[in-house]
Amino acid sequence: MHVSKARARTNIALVKYWGKRDGALNLPAVGSISMTLSSLHTTTEVGFDTRLSEDTVVINGRPAQGRERERVCAVLDVVRQTAGAGHRAAVRTENNFPTASGLASSASGFAALAAAAARAAGLELPVSELSRLARLGSGSAPRSILGGFVELPAGVLADGSDCVPREILPPDAWDVRLLVAVNGRAEKAVGSTEGMERTKGTSPYYRQWVETHAADMQAAADAIRARGIARLGAVVESSCFKMHASMMAATPPILYWNGATVEVIRTVRDLRNAGLDAYVTIDAGPHVKVLCPAAQSSEIADRIAKVDGVERVIVERPGPGVEILT
Ligand code: PMV
Repeated sequence: MHVSKARARTNIALVKYWGKRDGALNLPAVGSISMTLSSLHTTTEVGFDTRLSEDTVVINGRPAQGRERERVCAVLDVVRQTAGAGHRAAVRTENNFPTASGLASSASGFAALAAAAARAAGLELPVSELSRLARLGSGSAPRSILGGFVELPAGVLADGSDCVPREILPPDAWDVRLLVAVNGRAEKAVGSTEGMERTKGTSPYYRQWVETHAADMQAAADAIRARGIARLGAVVESSCFKMHASMMAATPPILYWNGATVEVIRTVRDLRNAGLDAYVTIDAGPHVKVLCPAAQSSEIADRIAKVDGVERVIVERPGPGVEILT
């Protein structure tokens, strides 16, 4: 039996991905830029075992079923094919945070799975191949292969070989924080794949979302290289609100926000009017993430923690890429 354990951190998109150019290969219609976090993570152990008659997948102590299990098995199948081995695998995976709530558990989950499964099968894969494996499970997972500030181009090639993550800045190159204001644990009503398809198919704003994306990618990458938080923050908020506006205009509309989401957005605006550097971003869930310089993070976190409905604020710094533990 060959066992390997890997850990990957979640990442939060600063320039968002929403929409696919190829559903089967899970290729994005737009590029994205993210920050890999330091503490929210998934640890995954994979063991290929001749005695198993089928893959077993346990997520946070509970056997995975249906679509969730299929997505894991799809990654294992490609690893088996690549390694030329047929053994079934036992997969055990743990998140240190709630699953499917907009905290990007699929990103860290599939990055950790790709790395652990490849290593357990005896493969030493480059970033491009690990990223291809991770992408089978989730479009945002390739970004968690790398640490720090990461760019994932949409690419144009049909096989996705030009959709490979690359580092913009390593984790210790820029001392910023992302504050995660957790305001509910409900699993999301509309999964991201369904939400993206609905937006692409019915939103009158989808085309503009795609057409204006390249400029956001360029502006955000330049701002990160220049360590310009106000410049970056402006693009981060614009990309976030454009994504949510395009999905709210879908039929039926998609709304991931709750009351506390809006209150945090307003509080961050007040903080900015008071001279602080704080900028919001929101994914497929109600939590608001706030980008700010390290030196202002305690003051901003204290204010956000007082907003009605906010359960806790997790302070994240730029973190490392995927790690093999055993
Ligand atoms: O990778 P998925 O299917 O979980 O989709 C991610 C979508 C967003 O989190 C809303 C945006 C992003 O780029 O992470």
